Amino acid sequence: MPRSPAYDALSRKIEARTARAGVIGLGYVGLPLAIAIARSGFAVTGFDIDPAKVVSLDAKRSYIDAVTSGDLALAIDEKRFSPTTDFGELAGCDVIIICVPTPLTRHRDPDLSFVEATARSIAVHLRSGQLVVLESTTYPGTTDDVVKVILETTGLKSGTDFFVGFSPEREDPGNQHFNTATIPKIVAGDGADALSLMVGFYSAAVKTVVPVSSNATAEAVKLTENIFRSVNIALVNELKTVYAAMGIDVWEVIDAAKTKPFGYMPFYPGPGLGGHCIPIDPFYLTWKSREYELPTRFIELAGEINSAMPRYVVAKLAEALDMRAGKALSRSRVLVLGLAYKKNVADIRESPSLRLIEVIEERGGKADYHDPLVGEIPSTREYQHLKGRASVDLTPETIASYDAILVATDHDQLDYAAITRNAPLIVDTRNVFARLGLAGDHIIKA
Ligand SMILES: NC(=O)c1ccc[n+]([C@@H]2O[C@H](COP(=O)([O-])OP(=O)(O)OC[C@H]3O[C@@H](n4cnc5c(N)ncnc54)[C@H](O)[C@@H]3O)[C@@H](O)[C@H]2O)c1
Repeated sequence: MPRSPAYDALSRKIEARTARAGVIGLGYVGLPLAIAIARSGFAVTGFDIDPAKVVSLDAKRSYIDAVTSGDLALAIDEKRFSPTTDFGELAGCDVIIICVPTPLTRHRDPDLSFVEATARSIAVHLRSGQLVVLESTTYPGTTDDVVKVILETTGLKSGTDFFVGFSPEREDPGNQHFNTATIPKIVAGDGADALSLMVGFYSAAVKTVVPVSSNATAEAVKLTENIFRSVNIALVNELKTVYAAMGIDVWEVIDAAKTKPFGYMPFYPGPGLGGHCIPIDPFYLTWKSREYELPTRFIELAGEINSAMPRYVVAKLAEALDMRAGKALSRSRVLVLGLAYKKNVADIRESPSLRLIEVIEERGGKADYHDPLVGEIPSTREYQHLKGRASVDLTPETIASYDAILVATDHDQLDYAAITRNAPLIVDTRNVFARLGLAGDHIIKA
């Protein structure tokens, strides 16, 4: 079949690196991606509705760990990256990539309002010869049934005038071994020409590109990866509670099980799930499968087990306070260590630590927190009542002044030896003390 003139023109621009990319949504995903694309030789315009982000980027100050201010400054100085809030500049972009949030509503249904608003802003400036890519995690069908449909209200046709693709993001904040350019990237398109443009464009910016047959398949790949994690984490969380009742240490079990060279992959228990992805994305599929009248029992069960973890941990804490110090939780002061949802990052989205503080206080206890990376609890959707609380300093005196230290996030930079020496009681949800060889009768695992 002959290719459309729009395809030929864009394909040539991509090959010559004269295509301009536009990345919409300069957060955890969009900013590192924009810089990786800029590094590969394309000029990139970054769009965000948050003027504070654009002001910070203009001043060459990165707010995302994965992008150093030095890398940002280099991209700006070489005129490869320019941030803006002016969506009029979309008209000058040849490849437009959407990296906006895809949260859940209060009723735990997909909230596509950010994606839809973005698609509508693109539609205003859509012209022949553009490739529009969705990178936000979502249910199968979103790219073709939502984004493409909005773009086609302009009268232009996908596959002839403009092109639509999906490529899921696999960012792993804090991971020292992989970055945007070295993580293999799944790509898909609406039709053969869109796929060919997707392969051409992304091959320039990332080392390995993995094409799949449709946008819906690529959307399903991302959900599968995150559901796999959610289900396996739920499984070890359940095993943790069962083995604990039997006097067996689940971490010792996992360390031994993972010596099996095939057919086993270690997952670790914790105080509950956090982050923008694993607690949320699986429910995008649950919602979509209702349309097909198909149950998603594994996904729902995993969600139930994982969200029950903060209550389980606080029950273990209350039991330890009672048995070891003869103290009721309702008369105790607890220091929650680590507010971020995972170690060595400052991201507190969906963090179980917030729920731990809430459950301790629901039960009448007093909870403070310490996190070297999170100075103050910012505004959050669900925990607005905790906003403004500040991280307490971690000194031998403060450690000793609490009835218990509850380790929720095992940041590397914490002084675990000092905590072991000074805390009257430690409840460890991450097995960090055993890993560091720190022992004591006052340390219990939960
Ligand atoms: N954070 C991760 O590790 C990760 C990993 C894989 C996939 N994802 C997915 O990537 C997507 C983005 O996540 P994130 O973590 O980067 O979110 P984020 O909140 O860090 O960033 C999103 C950015 O989009 C901006 N924004 C919102 N609406 C906009 C609009 N209409 N126009 C322009 N900008 C707008 C926000 O101001 C913000 O800067 C989500 O779908 C998420 O599920 C995230």
